[in-house]
Amino acid sequence: MAGKRWISLLRNVAVGAAALASTAGLAIPAAAGQPPSADGTRVVGGTRADPGEFPWMVRLSMGCGGALYTEQIVLTAAHCVSRTGNDTSITATLGVVDLHSSDAKEVRSSSVYRSPTYDTTGGDWALIKLAGPVRGIPTLPLATSGAGNTGTFTIAGWGAASEDGDQQRYLRKADVPFVDDKTCQAQGAGYGDLKPDAELCAGNVDDGGVDTCQGDSGGPLFRRDESGKWTQLGITSWGDGCARAHAPGVYTEVSTFASDIAAAAEKI
Ligand code: ARG
Repeated sequence: MAGKRWISLLRNVAVGAAALASTAGLAIPAAAGQPPSADGTRVVGGTRADPGEFPWMVRLSMGCGGALYTEQIVLTAAHCVSRTGNDTSITATLGVVDLHSSDAKEVRSSSVYRSPTYDTTGGDWALIKLAGPVRGIPTLPLATSGAGNTGTFTIAGWGAASEDGDQQRYLRKADVPFVDDKTCQAQGAGYGDLKPDAELCAGNVDDGGVDTCQGDSGGPLFRRDESGKWTQLGITSWGDGCARAHAPGVYTEVSTFASDIAAAAEKI
């Protein structure tokens, strides 16, 4: 899987440049000029999120997504950051669906914690500590047991609306079904290397059409729990292309790492 992850990383650099261009004020109408996907929809099967619908969604300046974990810490993917340590180079945009909105809160990073197991046993997660706490924005709690690793999830992000497509100005969302590890591992090349405890798959295996894509990495896969509370179950990690049939999206299995994440958040 190392090979594919490198590809994602390299693509991320391009994605980061696109994100920079967009935050530099270049008008990028959502999905302008992109051909519709096979089923006639876009965001690889999604729609625009409503303002305030997913208030803890964060856009990161290197071209990744994230979720607000505490009022001063963003949870994202390890492959979105380079190392643990002080880092003031990242800007987090919070509190908006429209990245160009004057209501956007922009906060600098102060440090990064990159999962120490990512390069060995897996665990594509990282924490970004912000320069100061953001007030008035809800956080997204993590699933602490695997009981929710089934059913239908919601995904969201400002990433490409089609494979090789542009980054999005407006937050987009879609729903994807859980795919069990065995089925996921049986889907060709890279999927055979799936790490069943560290990774969770979601998507329409037979038909594709709905998926996260480049630039959505680090963002959450989530749903409301039985009590109606939003819960994060995954972190967008990788896939073979986007929304292809027999190539589900792969997400960090949050329940496996919830206690490691909580411990890291105490010391970052
Ligand atoms: N690695 C990608 C990123 O850096 C996310 C890819 C998700 N791909 C997928 N087919 N679900 O943004």
